[in-house]
Amino acid sequence: MNAVFPGSFDPITSGHMDVLTRAAKIFDHVTLTVMHNARKQGRHLFTLEERMDILREATTHLPNVRVDTFGGLLVDYMARQEPGSVILRGLRAVSDYEYELQIAHLNRQIGDAETVFIMAATRWSFVSSSMVREIASYGGDVSEMVPRASAAALRRKHADVYAEREAEKEEQKQAQQQEQPGR
Ligand code: PNS
Repeated sequence: MNAVFPGSFDPITSGHMDVLTRAAKIFDHVTLTVMHNARKQGRHLFTLEERMDILREATTHLPNVRVDTFGGLLVDYMARQEPGSVILRGLRAVSDYEYELQIAHLNRQIGDAETVFIMAATRWSFVSSSMVREIASYGGDVSEMVPRASAAALRRKHADVYAEREAEKEEQKQAQQQEQPGR
């Protein structure tokens, strides 16, 4: 049985990876599908190609996971999949559930598509792509919250901010060493 894990993945987080890795053990195949909307282009930090490259790099160790993209309604994409394919979504908290419940009902109403949920491990309950983007935009450390491919891409995207922050940290370290020589 095939599961389709749709999302924006801007970028993929450790929470997504947790759900994906567990799903890859349950389903024969999992397709990570970056959904895109031509009218919403430019609203993402990463281009569609960048997001797909990150996904490919982050999933090389999962042989039954493939990466795809689709611009349109998810139910139209599901109609092109092998019969019996389901939509896979991750849940972090009750707040996710309310939104996801509505979407799942709508997708069944308009396209007879079934949705299966996997609860992300509690250690990722506070991690979201938007928060990761926010932290990275200030040069903060997100390495625990995202797979290596996402962390590297965020560093490249904000190379100037990270370099500035690291230079500041180095300056602080040197100032402390001058104040307390021998430490
Ligand atoms: O990662 P996200 O942003 O939570 O993913 C949401 C996504 C892309 C899965 C959802 O917005 C979606 O399915 N978009 C495709 C358009 C669609 O089918 N909309 C109808 C459901 S409201």
